[in-house]
Formats: sequence, structure tokens, C-alpha cells
Amino acid sequence: MLEETTQTELRPTARERARIYVTGDCDGLPDLRETLANHPEVELVGSAPQVGEAAPTLTGGHLQVVLHATRSSTLPVNEIAALREHTRAPIILLASNGSPDLLEEALEHDVADVLLLPQLTDNVVFAIRKAGHVGKRLGGPDQRHGRLVTVFSPKGGTGKTVTATNLATACAKFEGRKTLLLDLDLQFGDAAIMLGVEPEKTIYDLVVAPGELDTEKLAGYTTRHASGLEILPAPLRPEDAELVTEAKLGRLLEVARESFDVIVVDTSPFFHGPMLATLDRTDELLLLCGLDVPTLKNLRLALQTLDLLSFPKQRVRIVLNRSNSKVGMKPNEVEGALGMKVRFEIPSDRAVPLAVNRGNPVVLAEESADVSKAIKQMAKELFPTAKEEGKKRRFMRPATARA
Ligand SMILES: Nc1ncnc2c1ncn2[C@@H]1O[C@H](COP(=O)(O)OP(=O)(O)O)[C@@H](O)[C@H]1O
Ligand SMILES: [Mg+2]
Repeated sequence: MLEETTQTELRPTARERARIYVTGDCDGLPDLRETLANHPEVELVGSAPQVGEAAPTLTGGHLQVVLHATRSSTLPVNEIAALREHTRAPIILLASNGSPDLLEEALEHDVADVLLLPQLTDNVVFAIRKAGHVGKRLGGPDQRHGRLVTVFSPKGGTGKTVTATNLATACAKFEGRKTLLLDLDLQFGDAAIMLGVEPEKTIYDLVVAPGELDTEKLAGYTTRHASGLEILPAPLRPEDAELVTEAKLGRLLEVARESFDVIVVDTSPFFHGPMLATLDRTDELLLLCGLDVPTLKNLRLALQTLDLLSFPKQRVRIVLNRSNSKVGMKPNEVEGALGMKVRFEIPSDRAVPLAVNRGNPVVLAEESADVSKAIKQMAKELFPTAKEEGKKRRFMRPATARA
């Protein structure tokens, strides 16, 4: 089977290898791990005997399945709970001496499957495929499942907020997508100001409000922009940022995906807890870059961090902002330094700061400016219309067994 996923592929295909992680230990595990590491349908992202050591990858690694091995004949309830603090991925329990009650007990504790080792490799891979498939269904492609695009750069002033606000506006206005812009620059977010809206409520009000979060409640906290875009702004006071925890944000994104086609997240230049929760659910990570050496240096470090977090590289798109600046550096030098292709270029334009100061996104204020055309094209390529997507999906339907 050919590898269908490329750097420019917009939608990860169902043919992708299942990304798995192995925690714990039991008899027979080393052999199984080695077999899985070499199996064509599986991508073994890593393994750790202790759940705690695996925390960053469990959170940010886009894992389809976690295999947890135990020597105990009873359910390792604490270890399962520890895994659940970091990941929602389906868990398959591997045991070397399980009791007959183990399966029953495990299913009650949110474990997808139990396998007593030794097993044929094919059985294990089938269980992984099945658990991964069910996990995806619960995430809901059958229901509505919005795409999450995160705009990040490890440096301030690179144009994250300009890009996020204009991309989201273009998506709502010109692509007709139900779009949410979430400002995750929690301390100093300025997405609302750039869009000229004065929000009554922010993400802070939403996370401190009593009761379970659902789509209806979310709708009560977003502010509508004239383009049709909904905005969930950053807290008004920097000190309120810390109440937006990783767990709260994870839930918020899950709910947002049920009611929006597209969620664009603007960020701060840090990998804080809520950012990790966002990365774990990110479909496309737009990494903003400029034609300057300090930004490039920091972007290389950010790429290394993403690697440590096991963030899938095929979801990263390099965006070169102010691409036409005459500053003694060319776009291909950026590609050389990063070892990655530049996927989108946004030119520098005086219309941008003018639009920022008027609180009107440039894609609306100066529709025909080159910078607006570039961002509108980006929206089109990132979010193909439902019809185009349908065509693509039919073309790439997988041949794997249905769960
Ligand atoms: N393509 C561009 N052309 C001209 N000015 C830009 C462009 N992108 C960003 N800017 C200017 O740079 C400033 C910083 O951008 P901003 O999006 O706030 O950066 P960040 O969110 O990464 O800190 C903006 O106020 C805007 O005026
Ligand atoms: Mg910003």
C-alpha cells in the first residue's frame, strides 16, 4: 500500500498507521513491543514502564490507542486512572496472568479490550485497529466533527493574531463555514480587539460557570462578529488565565467540535497546559515564521519540542508571514533552516496595521489586497467545501475491517 499522507495532504487518511504507545510491563511484552515496532500497520510512538514518565506524549501525541501491560491478575485501577488523566485514547490492557473476571471488570473501567499474552501479532493488531476505530467513532465523525486549526509561533509579533483572526473571518464569510475563533493567548489576548468586538463574556466566564458544559451553554458565551464568525475571547484580566485549566479546555474543545465546522485557535508563544490539550486535538498546526534569524532559531526549538511531544509532523504547516520583505533572507533559506517546506506565504502589507488599528480584519477591509487574497486562499485550501471533501473521502476509503 502506498503512503497516501504527504506534507501537503489536507486530510489525514484513514490508511495512516495506528499511532500507539505502550505503558507498564508484563511477561511477553518486550517481544510484542518489538514486533509492533516493525509492523507496517502500527506506528509505535514510544513506551514507558511507568505511566508518569509518558505524560507529555500521552497528552500531546495524537495516540489512537494506548496498550497498558500489567503483571497483576486484578485490574490495575490506579494505573488506568493515571492514564486517563493524560489521554482519552482507547486503552487495551495486556496481561500475562489475568483472571476470568478481568475482562468484565476492565470493560466497566473504560478499558477497550483485554488481551492475555502471548497472542498472535495479527490478533493484537486487529484489537488495536478495532479499538482505534471505535475511539474515532465516539469522537464522532458520524456526528459533527469540526476541524481544529491552531496558529502558533514561539515568538511574539510574528503575526499569529493577524493570521488567526483573518483566517477565521475568511472561513466564516467566504467559505460559509460555521467558525469559532478561540483566543488562547490567555493573559494578553487581543483577537477580540483586532476584530473590533467588545465581548460581554470571555472564556473565563465560561469555565467558572457552574454546571456541565454542552453546546447550548457554549453558544451562550460566544460573541458574534458581523462576518458570522463566533468568538470566545481571552479573559479580560491576566490573573484569570490560570483558571482556564487543561481539563476545562479539553472539554471545551470537544464540545466546540460538535457545534462548529472549524475552530481556529490563536495562541501565546508558550507550551502551557491548555496549549498541550489543544495540540492533542489539533488537525492542522500553522507554525508562523518570519524572515528573521531569531524567529527561525525559536521555530527550530519549537519543532524539537513538538517532536518530543510526539506531535505528528504531517499536521504541521509552515506559514511564512511578511514573505515579501526585503530583509536579506529568502523563503528557501527558511526551508533550509527548518528542514520543512513553506506551505503558505502571507505578504507584508501596510493595509494590515491600518486594519488592526481600525478593528476591522484586512480580509474585509481590503478584500482585493494581496495579503487578503493570500489568507482567503489559505482558508479555501485548509477547509475544502463539504462536496470536495466527500469526493476525496470516497476516493480514499480504507479496506480495513469494520468494528
Ligand atoms: N503580513 C503583515 N503585514 C503587515 N503587518 C503585519 C503583518 N502581519 C502582522 N503585522 C503587524 O504585526 C503586528 C503584530 O502581529 P500580531 O498578529 O499581533 O502578532 P502575534 O499575535 O504573533 O504577537 C500587528 O499589529 C500587525 O500590524
Ligand atoms: Mg497575538
